Amino acid sequence: MARRLEIALAVGIVSLMAAGASQAGDRAAELTALVREDCGSCHGMTLKGGLGAPLLPADLAEKDASSLAAIILDGVPGTPMPPWRGLVSEADARWIAEHLKQGFPQ
Ligand code: HEC
Repeated sequence: MARRLEIALAVGIVSLMAAGASQAGDRAAELTALVREDCGSCHGMTLKGGLGAPLLPADLAEKDASSLAAIILDGVPGTPMPPWRGLVSEADARWIAEHLKQGFPQ
């Protein structure tokens, strides 16, 4: 639970910083860092899986971006995958899902 609180605080700070950022490029850089650091704690720094499922393009090929975005927003109840709604917007979740499918930027 403490770890989850730390994650929530870290993401909250990133979100506050994002509120001040006006350019889409800045948000993309922030979302990239968020995924590598916070999602990486479960999905692996290289997203090849850990406690969480692997999130590489080959793993997600059969899944559409909308359902992946819904998982990012609402989590998977009964599993450690937490909901990120409130920390990332629907557009952010969609951006993350599409970029995971394409091969996530470093
Ligand atoms: C506390 C651990 C944890 C964190 C942090 C976490 N996830 Fe997950 N995630 C999981 C687990 C476990 C699953 C598998 C759930 C299941 O059994 O269906 C999962 C599943 C997923 C899936 C569905 C994969 C599939 O093949 O259907 C996506 C997409 C995903 N996570 C994205 C993310 C993103 C993006 C973040 C960061 C914003 C994130 N996760 C952070 C644990 C985590």
